[in-house]
Amino acid sequence: MRAKGFLGVIAALLFVLPATAQMRGHGGPVRALAITGDGRLAVSGGFDQAAIIWGLDTGAALSILRFHDGAVNAVAVLPDGRFASASEDGRIALWRLGQAEPERVLEGHAGPIAGLAVSPDGRRLASAAWDGTARIWPLAGGPARVLEGHKGNVNAVAFLPDGGLVTAGADASVRIWTTDGQTTATALLPSALSALAVTADGEIAAAGADATVRFLGRDGSMRGQVELGPAPVIALAPSPDGTRIAAASAGGTVAMIERAGRKVLFNLVGPGLPVWSVAWRPDGSELVTGGGDRLVRRWNAGNGEPIGPLAMPRPADALASFHGERGAEVFRACVACHSLTPDEAPRAGPTLAGIFGRRIAAVPGYRYSDALKAMDIVWTPETVARLFEVGPARYTPGTRMPEQTINSAEDRDALMRFLAKATGETAAHPGTAAPN
Ligand code: HEC
Repeated sequence: MRAKGFLGVIAALLFVLPATAQMRGHGGPVRALAITGDGRLAVSGGFDQAAIIWGLDTGAALSILRFHDGAVNAVAVLPDGRFASASEDGRIALWRLGQAEPERVLEGHAGPIAGLAVSPDGRRLASAAWDGTARIWPLAGGPARVLEGHKGNVNAVAFLPDGGLVTAGADASVRIWTTDGQTTATALLPSALSALAVTADGEIAAAGADATVRFLGRDGSMRGQVELGPAPVIALAPSPDGTRIAAASAGGTVAMIERAGRKVLFNLVGPGLPVWSVAWRPDGSELVTGGGDRLVRRWNAGNGEPIGPLAMPRPADALASFHGERGAEVFRACVACHSLTPDEAPRAGPTLAGIFGRRIAAVPGYRYSDALKAMDIVWTPETVARLFEVGPARYTPGTRMPEQTINSAEDRDALMRFLAKATGETAAHPGTAAPN
């Protein structure tokens, strides 16, 4: 018997966690997350090689950034409104919202990049890579400073409040550097490290394989620790006010640590998949996580509960009138990027209104990839079903749509019946199907 496709798995999860505000769009685990200073947008990086910019309150994917030839392992928000993505392909791309191509590409690392950080003054970007180096890139241009000293992969990087840098690596060491790249201190910890967080008072938190978060001073001295166990810690994020640290684990939980008491206040309990990334909304009210379930999820940072149905993003509301239909459930994998009626707000993908009988790349004003514009396909229930049977990467090579397949023929049929009903001329009008 064939294993059920991931859409089946996700649909199953929906029944387990019906009240979670969740954003679907990535075709693979969500590896990295960052949130803008005004708290309105998030950028996520995925193993599917894409970065996605999200409207956090609507749950809509606004833009898909496709450039990298490898997993997007790290993302950052720059204070001038730009976004940075860094990849397994060793490159960093700088993006502006609304532009389909990167504005600048930073090249130099000779291995996958695993971490990014922005300096407190917003003028420099730091990267940590598996070529054994960290680099500091002046955002105004000019050559990067190369920081050498780690033995093996450098996995994490963070700036200190005074502009100095901290790095952590597979060699179990935390290194502390001056603004001009001299090592000032090195702390050797008991296990390989994958995550770092620095608070405004300059305290450093580091964690990794042995599932213990260790706190260090600016000089590398040990100040305390919190044991989480058993699953390795993958990501750390300090709360905006610095009182707490969120620690995401390969076991699928996020521990909320009170820094002063060095203790766990509570755990956010997800569906038991690795949580790869975690970020705070700037007012400290919410945590946003990305994980192995390919979702970006929102949580109440005060009590660890998933954000409930009242805060469900609008794209999900659009499906409310189709409640209980299998095809509508399958469409949940599409709704963050595609609207069903012509007058809904733009999302990362073209509207699917009138999709059947429409030529490929034909929505006026939507900026399609050159690849799609050059193809000769008419969308019918057969061709759209085929698109998700073999996957967009094979059926429409060069497309910006993240790779995803629907393995079950039944699910594809249900989706086609749903699309025929929801996007055709007899589709329900906005206000019933898609309250705006
Ligand atoms: C993360 C965002 C995202 C998700 C999720 C997504 N798509 Fe797309 N889709 C896109 C983008 C972007 C394009 C345009 C690609 C291009 O220009 O290369 C697209 C294009 C398409 C097209 C071709 C449209 C045209 O006008 O030619 C169809 C059909 C389509 N998607 C259907 C779906 C369906 C059905 C699903 C869910 C199973 C889905 N998409 C999931 C982003 C997405």
